[in-house]
Amino acid sequence: MASPPKRIPLLGGLSTARFLRDHWQKKPLLVRGAFPAFRDPLDPDELAGLSCEDGVESRIVREKGGAHPWEVTWGPQLEAGFAKLPKRGWTLLVQEVNRWVPEAALLLEPFAFLPNVRVDDVMTSFAAPGGSVGPHLDSYDVFLIQGRGKRRWMYHTRPTKDRRIEPDLELRILQTFEPEADEVLGPGDMLYLPPGFAHHGVAVTSCLTHSVGFRSPSAGEVWSSLAVAAARTAEGARLLADPPLAPASNPGAIPVALLERVRAMVRSLDTSDEAIDRWFASFATRLKPGHELEPRRKGAPEPKALPLLRKLERGATLARSEEARWAFLPHTNDALLLYVGGTEIVVPAEACALARALAAKRRHEGHELADLVKTPAARELLVHLVAMGALYTLP
Ligand code: SIN
Ligand code: CO
Repeated sequence: MASPPKRIPLLGGLSTARFLRDHWQKKPLLVRGAFPAFRDPLDPDELAGLSCEDGVESRIVREKGGAHPWEVTWGPQLEAGFAKLPKRGWTLLVQEVNRWVPEAALLLEPFAFLPNVRVDDVMTSFAAPGGSVGPHLDSYDVFLIQGRGKRRWMYHTRPTKDRRIEPDLELRILQTFEPEADEVLGPGDMLYLPPGFAHHGVAVTSCLTHSVGFRSPSAGEVWSSLAVAAARTAEGARLLADPPLAPASNPGAIPVALLERVRAMVRSLDTSDEAIDRWFASFATRLKPGHELEPRRKGAPEPKALPLLRKLERGATLARSEEARWAFLPHTNDALLLYVGGTEIVVPAEACALARALAAKRRHEGHELADLVKTPAARELLVHLVAMGALYTLP
């Protein structure tokens, strides 16, 4: 007999299948106690410190009291700037906290029932009492996990129809917003919102909120990336060299022979399932702008299988870099195609179990890997991934 679907506290007792059927991209879900005994992966001071660092994307939003309503100050923030902020009515938002704080990356793990290629980031906000970013719409799915403090969430329970925004503001604030639900969330509570559902979160007390965001590329991004990939394969080929031409009776006419060449060129695009799937896997795992896998430092020794395995045997943890997304496709003869940050790696059958395990979760205790790194092919893959900066060991 098939075992009954697992009901998980994260989803308020719903099974993942039920959540995906009834809520994902369809309607909000409020879960009280989604994360029992929740601990914030970083505290407000650490968040403020992070926002002052170069390369970290952040915003401070002030509804009132700034140079104009809903003033946005982009990072890197200045330490002195924090001292000047009032007691109420502002929010600091820091993007991609999962990249900078390993514990924040672990907030993504409970959502492993969703594909890696849909993951965007974890954004953490700190709000002083009364702080908010105004009523707005997002174009991505988001799980809003309440950390310390309390936040009141007002939101639509049906897709928002009136999408008009206030003119001339730095933020896209809705002109009208009549909430259909109004709830105060405390530590460990969570609100899931699909794209296109208006929401407005106001800090009741000073509080932290962690937004686990999922996005999918727009059709425009998909087409332009496909075109760039096609241009790369076509580089050097003079497909548009003139065909034999007849004298033009009117230079405005486009010669039929030339049109035939162009049609043939466009139709030469490989649209087999395999070509499309491989391009998409690479596209969907590509490094985001500013992301970079950090191969070993210049002059540092090449990682070697034996010392690495010994480290893992001694209890080190293997962790995935947050710079890249991971995905895989089946390949011929039980092999896999593994995609890490847009790079395709052909994984032979003997290393597939390791590749699947690494794609499935962010961290592995050394002992969990023992059986997976027994074959030379698996060891080679492990060393390769460490050398390219996609994996690293934690003591
Ligand atoms: C916030 O954390 O203040 C805003 C999150 C959101 O509304 O998406
Ligand atoms: Co939002």
